[in-house]
Amino acid sequence: MTEPLRLGIAGLGTVGIGVVKIIRRHAAQLEARTGRPIVITAISARDASKDRGVSLADYAWETDPVALAKRDDVDVLVELMGGHEGPAKDAIETALATGKDVVTANKALLAIHGQALAEQAEELGRVIRFEAGVAGGIPVIKSLTEGLAGNEITRVMGVMNGTCNYILTQMEATGQGYNALFEECGRLGYLEADPNLDVGGIDAGHKLAILASIAFGTKPAFEDVQLEGIQRISPEDINAAADMGYRIKLLGVAQRTGRGLEQRMTPCLVPANSPLGQLEGGTNMVVIEGDAVEQIVLRGPGAGEGPTASAVLGDICDIARGFRLPTFGQAASTLQDAPAAQAELPAPFYLRMALQDKPGALAKVTAVMGDCGISIDRMRQNGHADAAAPVLFVTHKTSRASIDQALAELEKVDVVSIAPVALRIETV
Ligand code: NAP
Ligand code: HSE
Repeated sequence: MTEPLRLGIAGLGTVGIGVVKIIRRHAAQLEARTGRPIVITAISARDASKDRGVSLADYAWETDPVALAKRDDVDVLVELMGGHEGPAKDAIETALATGKDVVTANKALLAIHGQALAEQAEELGRVIRFEAGVAGGIPVIKSLTEGLAGNEITRVMGVMNGTCNYILTQMEATGQGYNALFEECGRLGYLEADPNLDVGGIDAGHKLAILASIAFGTKPAFEDVQLEGIQRISPEDINAAADMGYRIKLLGVAQRTGRGLEQRMTPCLVPANSPLGQLEGGTNMVVIEGDAVEQIVLRGPGAGEGPTASAVLGDICDIARGFRLPTFGQAASTLQDAPAAQAELPAPFYLRMALQDKPGALAKVTAVMGDCGISIDRMRQNGHADAAAPVLFVTHKTSRASIDQALAELEKVDVVSIAPVALRIETV
């Protein structure tokens, strides 16, 4: 019989238990597809006594994930603990150093330490696979590294944090504000242990940095991702966007420009009738553009036990079949240092602010915008009961730098009673 592929699973939470269940449920099918049995030999988590809803009695228990990574009866470390430092990083480094391949769902670790880990893996002839780390069940890394390998990728865009998309779409559906929906996400178990990773755009920024590296052959550079969260988006923004034919999404965009690599994960207005605009709830979507393929759209569940475990199994099956690929799709030594684009491509912007309703207020604001070189395309002031008048502007194409300059100047203008919200209007 062909030698089994022996797994050591570190982390038995949502994803880890999902992986155990699939391996038990589909053992015969996995063996038929890969040509060898896939077996779990050892497991690790913090609490050995926890009932995880599935029998784990057949597997050796290790309290320390690094000890699991060192075991002689493990071929592949499946790291599903999370965290970009500490046990996850230590266990992966140990696994590579002791001759194991690695499968993980840990996007934070790959975005921050991916280059060093890729170099270590390649020196030692090992592979690191992480399909589950980006957009959960969507096989986006396989699409980029395999199906689209013949293309020069020109742009990668996507909605890659289900929690943020849930909050934004529920804001529109129910009229509830950010705080109420944030609390609802906590009750539903949608939030990361540190919720700022979700709502601050950091988790999605990790995913974008990984995709940009694979798409453009560059070293992962999470520190260069321009990040902005969704905390200041209100139902007023959602409704104003809808009135103009747009929806607000936490959108990631990565593209090469003449001035360097642009990577941003920020709330944007996108056309309501575009595939990205129609995305509901916790679903993810990644749009990839290449010189030959033109555009493809991948859509699916970005999180949860089944979808994430599905992606982990895809990686495990590749290793079982002997399919070996460099970490970011090409040798780590060939990944380029990409300078971060100093200024992103110009775009129209949406600006919402509240002004004291008194003579000359609007003139002061438009003067600031004019001084910053910003031309106004449309403007609206609705009737209001409060002393502060809600005002919306849509600008002609301008740079983020001009918008930031205007926002800084507007802070000094006495008639602006609520700090403006500025959102890019994206062409998708
Ligand atoms: P989780 O439910 O919180 O589970 C984490 C597991 O790791 C738990 O079993 C925990 O043990 C174990 N663990 C934590 N620290 C440990 C340590 N120091 N030593 C040993 N075990 C430790 O997390 P998850 O949602 O499954 O996520 C796992 C990974 O997948 C993360 O990198 C996450 O970003 C990624 N991911 C998750 C999803 C998703 O939908 N959940 C989607 C994509 C990617 P105890 O159970 O004993 O506490
Ligand atoms: N917190 C993440 C999300 C989980 O909401 O999309 C999947 O990475």
